[in-house]
Amino acid sequence: MNYRHAFHAGNFADCMKHALLVWLLHALRRKEAPFAVLDTHAGRGEYDLSAPEAERTGEWRQGIGRLLGLTAEEGPLADYVALTRALGAPARYPGSPALVRALLRPQDRLICVELHPEDHAALAARFRGDRQVAVHRRDGWEALRALTPPPERRGLVLMDPPFEQEGEFDRLAEAIALLRRRFRAGILAVWYPIKHRAPVRAFHAALAAGEARDLIAAELWLREPTDPTRLNGCGLLVANAPFRFTEECGPMLAALLAALGECDSGEGWAVTRIVEE
Ligand SMILES: C[S@@+](CC[C@H](N)C(=O)[O-])C[C@H]1O[C@@H](n2cnc3c(N)ncnc32)[C@H](O)[C@@H]1O
Repeated sequence: MNYRHAFHAGNFADCMKHALLVWLLHALRRKEAPFAVLDTHAGRGEYDLSAPEAERTGEWRQGIGRLLGLTAEEGPLADYVALTRALGAPARYPGSPALVRALLRPQDRLICVELHPEDHAALAARFRGDRQVAVHRRDGWEALRALTPPPERRGLVLMDPPFEQEGEFDRLAEAIALLRRRFRAGILAVWYPIKHRAPVRAFHAALAAGEARDLIAAELWLREPTDPTRLNGCGLLVANAPFRFTEECGPMLAALLAALGECDSGEGWAVTRIVEE
């Protein structure tokens, strides 16, 4: 396990994933009924942006650093930016567990899974004594089978693997099919990198040929994705998206690109329905 999220926390890809995650959580809060969130690759929960790892890459400065500089208190990114600020940005950046925890109501639960011993220990310490949060040290892929469907029968599964092993797109496609069978009412949010178009096209094609219904891909890219060695963009595959996701996702991606883009002629965003309902 070589991947450490501390080098990348708060970068453009985190901003995209977390802005859409915050929107999805607000959608779940529209109904009183309790929900559960399963975060299969949770990370350490919070990142010190003055730590050597964050300083070494400085990636957060072109991500959340830029968004915090926006003055607009309204607009499609306002909820997300305000929440990161309330949770300590720019000194600290909240990872997905911290963002989700901040939006749980007393009747809701968060289940975090993290395999790296250090990150797991940090996450477990953060939520020790919190009766609404469970932290597991186990394999996120195995946890999908063991921990779904949640008894609430409502909620969201976030899959955010590090993409450090071969075949990660194939595992995601299998996991999406599995979850659509086991937890049909649940929302799935699955992050993936866009380095080069070919693997992303193959992933979408595999999903389109599979049995899972109702899949939408939200994507943002800062430059033409032609260099497979660079993170040129990223996507969030959403299954069972809540009402108005497609309409409201576009303005969020446009606002992210306006703030985080590098004026590259190859930049862009898209919201694409991969599989019909
Ligand atoms: C991209 S980071 C997660 C970031 C986090 N979801 C967030 O948004 O703040 C991926 C995490 O997965 C962990 N990880 C890697 N392989 C894993 C596995 N098989 N099961 C669970 N976690 C794993 C890594 O240690 C890393 O912390």
